[in-house]
Amino acid sequence: MIREAGAFRESADAWRDQGHDVGLVPTLGALHEGHGSLVRAATERCARVAVSIFVNPLQFGPNEDFARYPRPEGGDLAMCERLGVDAVWMPPEQEVFPPGLELPAPDPGRVGATFEGASRPGHFTGVLKVVHRLFGVTGPSTAFFGQKDAQQLFLVRRMVSDLELPIEIVACPTVREPDGLALSTRNRYLSTEEREQAGCLFLALTEAAALARGGERDARVLVASMAREIGATELATLDYAAIVDEATFVTIQTIEAPARAIVAARFPSARLIDNLLLPEPA
Ligand code: PAJ
Repeated sequence: MIREAGAFRESADAWRDQGHDVGLVPTLGALHEGHGSLVRAATERCARVAVSIFVNPLQFGPNEDFARYPRPEGGDLAMCERLGVDAVWMPPEQEVFPPGLELPAPDPGRVGATFEGASRPGHFTGVLKVVHRLFGVTGPSTAFFGQKDAQQLFLVRRMVSDLELPIEIVACPTVREPDGLALSTRNRYLSTEEREQAGCLFLALTEAAALARGGERDARVLVASMAREIGATELATLDYAAIVDEATFVTIQTIEAPARAIVAARFPSARLIDNLLLPEPA
């Protein structure tokens, strides 16, 4: 495990000098099987794989869970070792954001102010700033992100294309619990009762998917259905439900091209998000 940015950069440099391609899996730690699936995808594609574990303060709002976000260092390192990760970068804050250094802050733009960005002001500015820095220190040929965080994935992809960074972004499918709940570090905040009801997000998404498969093109019908499902769940409060164009992440009224259903709901102990690419009509 490496803490210093310089030392981490040197190991990535050495791999490149040896002709190896370098894969990067950025994480906040508290690793679960969702992260595990990204690491597996990385080890399949890249000769050397690095995982970064950094709870980035810039992407947490003032009333969010930065202070209590779990940091199980030992367990995370053991999981990385088990998965055959070549290097884990677990930096203290000053290695990522050295005091006095003005790092570039890529603009998340208009899409960055919607949905997660509207509910969590400044979130994507923090995400893009840290991801850009992680890319800069590592110099990966490929970086792996989960579809679970579809808006984040969209904005990272757009940053890479706008800045013409020579990095391939690989999107990995969402890993779910048997009831459909997407694996997330924040699931562990849920009470037993909340956990029992948390499947409502996936249920809402699959119902929207069924409507789309049946030929429904009016996005408002799908949104109403999702809102109904989550609204009927005692402990859940709907934050947003929408259908967005897959290519632009902008809300659409009529489904004419690949589209994604997205939802966010608050439970008393955690806020959860999920999404699903809608199927073509059968
Ligand atoms: P974190 O929430 O730790 O997630 C790290 C990566 O794992 C993200 O790309 C996320 O989409 C993916 N992931 C999380 N749960 C998943 C699941 N159930 N199935 C598949 N992939 C899943 O996302 C972040 O960290 C941060 O914002 C970060 C990109 C590291 C920047 O700080």
